[in-house]
Amino acid sequence: MTDAYQPRIQERSLDRDCTTLSRHVLQQLQSFSSEAQDLSALMNRIALAGKLISRRLSQAGIMAGVLGFAGTENVQGESVKKMDVYANDVFISVFQQSGLVCRLASEEMEKPYYIPENCPIGRYTLVYDPIDGSSNIDANLNVGSIFAIRRQEGSDEDGSASDLLQSGRKQIGAGYILYGPSTILVYSIGTGVHAFTLDPSLGEFILWQENIRVPDRGSVYSVNEGNFWQWDESIRDYIRYVHRHEGYTGRYSGALVGDFHRVLLQGGVFLYPGTLKKPEGKLRLLYECAPLAYLMEQAGGRASNGTQNILDVVSGHLHQRTPFITGSPEDVALVESFIQERDRIKEDEQLLTRS
Ligand code: AHG
Ligand code: MN
Ligand code: MN
Repeated sequence: MTDAYQPRIQERSLDRDCTTLSRHVLQQLQSFSSEAQDLSALMNRIALAGKLISRRLSQAGIMAGVLGFAGTENVQGESVKKMDVYANDVFISVFQQSGLVCRLASEEMEKPYYIPENCPIGRYTLVYDPIDGSSNIDANLNVGSIFAIRRQEGSDEDGSASDLLQSGRKQIGAGYILYGPSTILVYSIGTGVHAFTLDPSLGEFILWQENIRVPDRGSVYSVNEGNFWQWDESIRDYIRYVHRHEGYTGRYSGALVGDFHRVLLQGGVFLYPGTLKKPEGKLRLLYECAPLAYLMEQAGGRASNGTQNILDVVSGHLHQRTPFITGSPEDVALVESFIQERDRIKEDEQLLTRS
């Protein structure tokens, strides 16, 4: 009897190239149940969306229909880029005939979009920002896609999708795709944060880093200082502090996904505070802040609206905005300490005027 064949996959590169996203999800769930297979297949479809969008972005200067505005406005009242529309449709297309996702809610659609053939069997909902940082597209700078997976709860017969208006703790997974010098996909399904790099020659996202942990503190503070005079005094106090103390450096790309990714890997804090005119700020809770808060918490970091954990905030409507502070636990706490200090001063002043 000849010796049994011993696969030589101990060779690192072959095994690494086989650690695709769909396999990694099953490894993380330690299960081959139908639910695990569904989640693995769902992540694989998201990966396909990432590949399609990455390919389109790489052809921006040479292919019509990539750069520039679509000539319409979205529900946010923002001018829509052609890539916003393309990417929005890509996420819908990859879930057709999937039996996985019945409903998709996006920054670019006033109401959720239903894929009838997938309902009622597909009990998942994808909430997503198809292109984040779209002001960067025409300047060939990094942009991203942000997503979260939620279960559909109840019948949603009236199409109101009211079950989506629950806290971020209802998310069963979240992630983003960063279209930069390389295209990477970062995700978590509750067992840590893991990153994959797209190998265009394979057409696969290959495992790059597992169990990413955000440093307890970092030197980066990421904020649009152009809004300085529109901020509450507490945020100005924080900015004055980092200006006056050694060891801080400002980094801001105009694309949340890129700035978030830098903070996740290097530590520090990203903040998009509310302003006196827009106390709720600019970023959207359901498909920007809650998914990223889920990831940051999985990586040992924090995400707050200044006074409350983002994951505990319940959205009043699909496109609700929120102030957003996220990153290393010590840096988020430092920003919050300036907010708490100003609140104390306001309370003392109110007590004084009452006495
Ligand atoms: P989107 O392109 O999806 O509308 O998101 C843009 C967001 C976010 O990516 C970024 O952090 C922020 O807008 C930048 O806003 P400012 O230009 O006001 O700094
Ligand atoms: Mn966005
Ligand atoms: Mn967007």
